[in-house]
Amino acid sequence: MTSMEGKALPFVLAAILSLGAIAAALPSTPVPADQALLAARWTARVAIPVFLVAYLARPLHQLLPSALSKVLLARRRQWGLAFALSMTIHLGALLVNILIFRPRPVEEILAGMAAYSLIFVMALTSNNWSMRRLGKWWKRLHLLGLHYVWLIFFAGRALRLAEGDPAYFLSAFIMGAVLLAALLLRMAAWSVTRRRAARG
Ligand code: HEM
Repeated sequence: MTSMEGKALPFVLAAILSLGAIAAALPSTPVPADQALLAARWTARVAIPVFLVAYLARPLHQLLPSALSKVLLARRRQWGLAFALSMTIHLGALLVNILIFRPRPVEEILAGMAAYSLIFVMALTSNNWSMRRLGKWWKRLHLLGLHYVWLIFFAGRALRLAEGDPAYFLSAFIMGAVLLAALLLRMAAWSVTRRRAARG
């Protein structure tokens, strides 16, 4: 695989997953409002694994270095941008929902809009020039953005569980548990690297 192909892989996978989610949603029901809802739901769900690769590439390499973790770390920027692509496709699906089928009050979507602002600022600053210009603020911005997106994903799953609807229980439980495990992995990597640095 050439390095150009390696760089394109996250985008190709994200596009296949997101467009596949829409292609699966459309024939699954004859009701257009339900098609739009399922397209929004499934495009968001398939964005989670893409997010997790970007979120976990560094901690995985720190805790369990391998040839695969090295490649993921080297391509972390592309995975982050591929996640922004997935979320842009989710945005398209939810705009159809909001503008055509079910308008929502602004206060209901404020947290999601803040997440989108961070996702797009992170995508726009995912380049060497921005890293140099922003200095230590670059890392702060991207740490904040990553964890805020994690929080929005996790809070959504927690709300679903709290609603107690059996139709959503299993998917919300699995996605919530995976997200929690990802956070714990990051915390473990952070603590291990701090201890390694303290030992010199
Ligand atoms: C203004 C911003 C947003 C709006 C209006 C919005 C709207 C929606 C809608 C209409 C659905 C389908 C509802 C359903 O499943 O019943 C949905 C699903 C979902 N959204 Fe968004 N969204 C927004 C931003 C985000 C962001 C930023 C994230 C993640 C960081 C996200 C994650 C999800 C997830 C995981 C689902 C699937 C829910 C499930 O599986 O039950 N959304 N969203």
